[in-house]
Amino acid sequence: MAGAAQHAHWSSRWAFIMAAVGSAVGLGNIWKFPYEAGEGGGGAFVLVYLLFVFFIGTPMLVAELSLGRRGQLSPIGSMKKIAQDEKKSHWWSLIGWSGVVGAFIVISFYSVVGGWTLAYMVKAAMGAFSGIDAAVAQSTFVGYISDPVMTLVSHFAFMAITIFIVAKGVQGGLEKAVTVLMPALFVILIILVIYSGFTGDFAKAVDFLFNPDFDKLLFKPNTAEAIAAGAPATHFSLDTVLQALGQSFFSLSLALGSIMTYGSYLTKDVKIGRSALTIAGADSAVALMAGLAIFPIVFAYGLDVAGGGGLVFMSLPIAFGQMPFGIVFGTLFFGLLAVAAITSSISLLEPPVSYVEEKTGWDRRKVAITMGLAAGLLGILSAYSQGDNLLSDIKFKMLGLELDIMGVKDFLTNNIMMPLGGMFTALFVGWFVTRKNMMDELALSDKTFRIWYFLVRFVSPTAIGIIFGKIIYDNFIA
Ligand code: TRP
Repeated sequence: MAGAAQHAHWSSRWAFIMAAVGSAVGLGNIWKFPYEAGEGGGGAFVLVYLLFVFFIGTPMLVAELSLGRRGQLSPIGSMKKIAQDEKKSHWWSLIGWSGVVGAFIVISFYSVVGGWTLAYMVKAAMGAFSGIDAAVAQSTFVGYISDPVMTLVSHFAFMAITIFIVAKGVQGGLEKAVTVLMPALFVILIILVIYSGFTGDFAKAVDFLFNPDFDKLLFKPNTAEAIAAGAPATHFSLDTVLQALGQSFFSLSLALGSIMTYGSYLTKDVKIGRSALTIAGADSAVALMAGLAIFPIVFAYGLDVAGGGGLVFMSLPIAFGQMPFGIVFGTLFFGLLAVAAITSSISLLEPPVSYVEEKTGWDRRKVAITMGLAAGLLGILSAYSQGDNLLSDIKFKMLGLELDIMGVKDFLTNNIMMPLGGMFTALFVGWFVTRKNMMDELALSDKTFRIWYFLVRFVSPTAIGIIFGKIIYDNFIA
């Protein structure tokens, strides 16, 4: 356990908050949240999502931060040490393993999409979107993700930036980057919301995002054949609710060791409860603001609200190509996306780096470069699985789904490792760590502690159990 003695720390609470918010705010907020809200019917999805963020996600943030701070090691080292202190099975360190391995897998494809944002920033700046229509926007995107050279270059450019920051260490790299990038991100986002408000259909966007329509959330249309055979027009479904739960976990960077690692760089004087609320609040605020920047444009230009993953890359460029100052705002928008992605990707490279650093005692630069390149190489498979690229014909029939390589990695992490990791983390702090030790570590008021304890003991494991049980049921039983 070389290196453990001089385990790094944040220089201030502010630096920690910026880093944690930077981890949370990412492609999940600006790319995924708007299209999931769009597909999930708008306001009702947003409401349910926010409930999950505050009643399940925030208590989980508290749990992970406290485990990291108590352990003062990588997620694997921390879990092992705490389980040992508590005289519990060393198998609990599997939570740490799943986090470190999961983060490694996620960064390998997160960096691919990160590369797309860099490429689109350059395209926007060069005026590539001027006057394009929907067909051209689509062929531009598909052409780009199908190009083996361009996708490789942008993926490794993104990975290189991530490695560069992580290599410089907690205070010299992570902190310096996030304390500049996060305020910049907020400023760009506010400019974009204001701009959208003036040029787009703001009233319609607000109505869409905040006026809940629970029918849309809970009822899915039946197929035409089913209706012809006498079925009603819609059927009850919890799919979208579960989607919202998964999204709240992803957006808060839970269950893959990112937050636990950031917790391990915390000093004892930082209040974990209040920090978790700030992180969750900022993360939700950015998701909503991203919605308010994007949907006014979507409505004003008659784009499809349920445009899926293509909403940001295939729809918005049409609007940027038509609107006044579209080159400036298009570049700003994709720059914003790139910044958000970078501050998240560093938190995904951190768990594997902190583990290997602790295990080998190598210096951080060497570890960051080794792990970053390894993840980068693994990422080539994801990059080339998209569009018409070299490996796009490789499909896996997994559990009734047909997935490309990127899809397999996403499925494995998002649908299996994250729910299981989250559930076991909640069970561990709720049922296996001594209550008194938990109270001491958190230093919450009695009442707040009781609420938190109830949420992690009962609410989180049950909710996650339902989502995971549903995945298993759908795939193996139904
Ligand atoms: N939260 C980030 C986003 O919204 C992604 C991310 C970073 C993440 N670290 C994570 C997701 C750990 C899950 C687990 O884009």
